[in-house]
Amino acid sequence: MQYSDKVMEHFTHPRNVGEMPDADASGTVGNAKCGDIMQIFLKVENDVIVDVSFKTFGCGAAIATSSMATELIKGKTLKEALQLTNRAVVEALEGLPPVKIHCSVLAEEAIRSAIADYYRKNGREIDFPLESALHEDEH
Ligand code: FES
Repeated sequence: MQYSDKVMEHFTHPRNVGEMPDADASGTVGNAKCGDIMQIFLKVENDVIVDVSFKTFGCGAAIATSSMATELIKGKTLKEALQLTNRAVVEALEGLPPVKIHCSVLAEEAIRSAIADYYRKNGREIDFPLESALHEDEH
């Protein structure tokens, strides 16, 4: 299996790793097929993601996509972060082998789940899907 240099780089030096004790919200998702789990923590001020971190128990591609996804949403508004697709994460990583695309879906969905947690805690209506649009073609 061929991984891009970017994937290898984020896998060996992942950004924003670890639990965030003072997080405003967090979301956990799992992939039923491989059993991998990803958790995203958010610190939010005025609807802007001022800090984000992740904990991933999973394959190298899941760790690289978590790392890249956190980099892509840091400093963005919650709305902007919801626009992040697994495809954009894969592109930023200069591609993933086809059998590893489902790993990037985990990152998109963990972010959605963390934002949903934030909305819930703040009494806001969750007006976006929790599942990635790609989910359907995957099965
Ligand atoms: Fe499970 Fe990659 S194999 S997330």
